[in-house]
Amino acid sequence: MQADDIPAVRAIDQMSFSLPWPERAYDYEIHKNQSSLLWVAEIDPPGEGSKVVGMVVIWQILDEAHIATLAVHPDFRRQGIGENLLLNALDGALDRGAKHAMLEVRANNWAARKLYKGFGFEIVGRRPRYYRDNIMRMLCL
Ligand SMILES: CC(C)(COP(=O)(O)OP(=O)(O)OC[C@H]1O[C@@H](n2cnc3c(N)ncnc32)[C@H](O)[C@@H]1OP(=O)(O)O)[C@@H](O)C(=O)NCCC(=O)NCCS
Repeated sequence: MQADDIPAVRAIDQMSFSLPWPERAYDYEIHKNQSSLLWVAEIDPPGEGSKVVGMVVIWQILDEAHIATLAVHPDFRRQGIGENLLLNALDGALDRGAKHAMLEVRANNWAARKLYKGFGFEIVGRRPRYYRDNIMRMLCL
């Protein structure tokens, strides 16, 4: 992810989450947060130039990779993009010494939970009534 991806990334964020990140957040993650690893997924439709259709942000602290956000544009879901993003992001974190990965997901987010299960994430805790829904903490070793 680079600074000129931010408008497309923010649009995907807003289409994907009821509580999107604040306006300056991606700029901070790219330029200031040394722990942040950021990727976008791009497609190249003929004659249109490349288009950002997904993003993932990992905060890596020592040997833990925390998946801070992951989203795919609603028009491009179920095409393997989310899986590819996560695979690349975890690969990058492994290269930088990660030994396990952690994330939080709403209990009713079945699409994301199924994706994470496929990667071997397992539920290690629950935070009831966090925001509006229950939140599950998942770990992958
Ligand atoms: C979760 C999300 C990133 C998945 O992205 P995606 O590109 O559609 O996912 P993929 O096409 O790579 O799917 C990989 C696997 O995940 C599971 N999956 C993904 N979406 C699913 C859905 N709507 N229903 C059931 N399973 C789903 C399936 O097992 C799928 O494999 P399959 O298509 O072979 O059955 C996307 O739905 C999204 O952006 N959601 C809104 C934001 C969000 O909730 N992010 C996660 C926050 S914790």
